[in-house]
Amino acid sequence: MRLAKLPGESTRGFLERLRDAVLLRISPAFRERRRLEKMVGPTGVWKALERYQVGCLKALGLRPQHHLLDIGCGPLQGGIPLIRYLDTGRYAGIDIRPESIAEAHRQVRKAKLQAREPFLAVSETFGRDELGERTFDFFWTSQLLYHLDDDLAEMCFTQVAARMRPGARLIGDFIPTDGPSERRSDNWQGFTFFHRPFSFFEDLATRHGMHMLRHGKLRQFGYPVRKTYSLSDNELLEFRKK
Ligand SMILES: C[S@@+](CC[C@H](N)C(=O)[O-])C[C@H]1O[C@@H](n2cnc3c(N)ncnc32)[C@H](O)[C@@H]1O
Repeated sequence: MRLAKLPGESTRGFLERLRDAVLLRISPAFRERRRLEKMVGPTGVWKALERYQVGCLKALGLRPQHHLLDIGCGPLQGGIPLIRYLDTGRYAGIDIRPESIAEAHRQVRKAKLQAREPFLAVSETFGRDELGERTFDFFWTSQLLYHLDDDLAEMCFTQVAARMRPGARLIGDFIPTDGPSERRSDNWQGFTFFHRPFSFFEDLATRHGMHMLRHGKLRQFGYPVRKTYSLSDNELLEFRKK
């Protein structure tokens, strides 16, 4: 194995890369963790992101008796601790990618949480075709909203609005910009990034009979802050029916 410091790379960054390269070679557990992390995004912060997801929702009022829909749930980084926290049958997770949901089922079995009866489904319609008559108190869109184009964002809000119990909230983060909405050419696993002004979500909320609350940056809720994880600067929003 040959690794050299890259131009402009800090010593700390190089040492982390070196450590990861060694662990990837010698530790099956590390390889497995890395495989899962790549299905979500940032690497090296799985536990911190688990804590962030549950801590954030609890801080905003989630209680064990609430019904929660995790939209874009991925391989259940937040889902597993949420299933543990919520009462039986209260967690539902949907994702557009079949491989995410297959992995989610695996993670539930691995954590021996089948008795908590989480509902998991592949959905291209934000649950329209899969969730039947289910309604929810919390809708969680972690690291998802900035991958939705205008039409998908509209569909997401339509589905959420139709399934809101009295007092329900939709909570999620987005990448802010001071300018107009902007589609970035970079993508993550085929998903585009959209940077949005606050007004994009204010307008969306108004069209769906909701009002919007700003909760500040993700770092205030424990999202890990690293030079490479600028998502900690994402803004957290809450939407409720008027
Ligand atoms: C960055 S990952 C975040 C996963 C998870 N929410 C978390 O924070 O740990 C984005 C997830 O959203 C899913 N996704 C993207 N577009 C979607 C859509 N239109 N409907 C449902 N899921 C979607 C992806 O498959 C992926 O699992």
